[in-house]
Amino acid sequence: MGTAAGGSLLACRNVSKHFGALAAVNNLSFELQAGEVLGIGGPNGAGKTTLFESISGLNPATGGEILFEGRDITQLPPEAVCHAGIARTYQLNAGFDSMSVRDNVRVAAYFGRDNRVIPGFRFGRAVDDQVDEALSLVGLSDKHAELFGRLPVVDRKLLMLASALATNPKLLLMDEPVGGLNPKEIDQIMNVVRNIVGRGITIILIEHVMRFLVQLSSRVLIMHHGEKIYEGSPQGLVHDRNVVDVYLGEGASQRLGALLEGQGAG
Ligand SMILES: Nc1ncnc2c1ncn2[C@@H]1O[C@H](COP(=O)(O)OP(=O)(O)OP(=O)(O)O)[C@@H](O)[C@H]1O
Ligand SMILES: [Mg+2]
Repeated sequence: MGTAAGGSLLACRNVSKHFGALAAVNNLSFELQAGEVLGIGGPNGAGKTTLFESISGLNPATGGEILFEGRDITQLPPEAVCHAGIARTYQLNAGFDSMSVRDNVRVAAYFGRDNRVIPGFRFGRAVDDQVDEALSLVGLSDKHAELFGRLPVVDRKLLMLASALATNPKLLLMDEPVGGLNPKEIDQIMNVVRNIVGRGITIILIEHVMRFLVQLSSRVLIMHHGEKIYEGSPQGLVHDRNVVDVYLGEGASQRLGALLEGQGAG
């Protein structure tokens, strides 16, 4: 066990985040190996986003430790976490409305790769290459000149993803990437995530859309009241009594079970 932590990309050990008396994340531990896709689910208010806030340094943990490539990042500021190789997307869409798609991603690529105390006058070739690659990976190359503020929701989500990718992350945290999207758009994002995995980027994704979560994840973790109530295979999830009772419900778990069986057979 002692050496396992050394080999993992990310290790959360007894991580807690207290807001006053509320333990939004309570003594949570898990490890992540490079190349995995870890799916995190659980009811509203379970502490999923708060966990991301702590990993990404936006709202540091109040207890426990977070190791990235063996290095303690628990108290690092967000820009240092990003420069270490962790990028994230947000539950609500974030972007610069009056800037083009391309310029939005350029800002992320420029500031996300390194410390930029005094911005230069030009972005430079390396940054532009990174931007092109990120836009192509999410399928937004054709829309590079459009303004963020004019984009439909699905494209805003893809742009936020491109901005995260442009920082060249080893680990990508995605908070509800398909919330509010229709089934066709969900499939579109699913394909993009598969392409990202194909590039060797490790992923943690939070999602309420369970078919998205179970089809993409190699392992699933379910949170409830800040604690882990399940960690294991997507298949095991649908048969876990506790998870079915507090989160999935009978109908959804049966539908997911059938979906996973179909996948296994195909
Ligand atoms: N900055 C904050 N100050 C006080 N309480 C907070 C703060 N941020 C989150 N909380 C509380 O922490 C708990 C966990 O919230 P969190 O947003 O992490 O849940 P979640 O699992 O992401 O839920 P959802 O699925 O609705 O996005 C909630 O009770 C929430 O009200
Ligand atoms: Mg949330």
